[in-house]
Amino acid sequence: MKILTTNQPSLAIQDFSTRLIVWQKVHGRHDLPWQNTQDPYAIWVSEIMLQQTQVAAVIGYYQRFMQRFPDIASLAAAKQDEVLQLWSGLGYYSRARNLHKAAQMMVDTFAGQFPQALVDVQSLPGIGRSTAAAIVAFAFNQCHAILDGNVKRVFARHFLVEGWPGLPKVEKLLWGLAEELLPQSNMVAYTQGLMDLGATLCTRTKPRCGECPLKQSCLAYQQQRVPEFPASKPRKILPEKQTVMLVLLRGNEVMLEKRPPTGIWGGLWSLPEIAVEENAEQAAELRYGALAQCLPAYPFIKHTFSHFHLHIQPLAMQVSQMQPQAREAGIVWLPLDEAIDAALPAPVRKILQSFRPL
Ligand code: ADE
Repeated sequence: MKILTTNQPSLAIQDFSTRLIVWQKVHGRHDLPWQNTQDPYAIWVSEIMLQQTQVAAVIGYYQRFMQRFPDIASLAAAKQDEVLQLWSGLGYYSRARNLHKAAQMMVDTFAGQFPQALVDVQSLPGIGRSTAAAIVAFAFNQCHAILDGNVKRVFARHFLVEGWPGLPKVEKLLWGLAEELLPQSNMVAYTQGLMDLGATLCTRTKPRCGECPLKQSCLAYQQQRVPEFPASKPRKILPEKQTVMLVLLRGNEVMLEKRPPTGIWGGLWSLPEIAVEENAEQAAELRYGALAQCLPAYPFIKHTFSHFHLHIQPLAMQVSQMQPQAREAGIVWLPLDEAIDAALPAPVRKILQSFRPL
């Protein structure tokens, strides 16, 4: 597939953006809580929450977050724990840590203002090329290309781009298309249109091609090959790891331990872990000063990270006595109900839910 590059955009290119803009204005989404504002902070928070997360799941979190942290200054001044708490259940917690860090950088480096230049926006933690472009398009009407997962799918189908879009050479080609197709004006409707089309019509399964404003030029549609695009990610075999998570129960309370600030689940509250070959009762006493007895076994839980599968064996233990000196930083005892609402990794929340009395 070749697209003409001239100073004057070719008719085909102009047509793509014009049809999308007209469609967005009539059929696109206009009343999401982060629309109808030009506040870059509000737009930034929404774009980060919407990474890998559906609109319906984001709305409540977004409203609570904006109520508590309405601006850069309030977010920068917050404790990380509170930011993570408001993110609790949304997943991918590095997004929350980066949001917090970036707000502090704006205070330190950009005089408390949201930067306007794309390079500055992109220099902040957690903001990649596409997110930076979306923010400056929505907030400042700047003309920069976006390319998230949904947009990759739209372009891969429309221009019959072969190969998995995560491959560098495929991604490069898609960025090239994204830039060539940019309109001369109407960046807000165009950017939102690409997102809306990918989320509502040009969906991964069951696309509604009949209603698509781009169907007359979509090569995959013309050739009846829409389901073949984009190519899926080549499957790789991931290593398997095992861990034991102790569910130390004392009355209706459970013990949580704070994870180190970096690495997997950094800064989240989790259950104490021991190696599979360790003796749980000894470990509970030596490490946590808890005299405890094992309760009946629970089924394993499998959690997949990008680079390994983790098999978690939950091991419930009834604590009969705590050694009096056993007070450690980074350890809390919380009633099960409260623990479930803490900033927990998803599989830990799942384990605790199975212990909650009905
Ligand atoms: N996904 C990413 N950004 C979005 C936005 N601004 N509106 C709806 N969905 C989105």
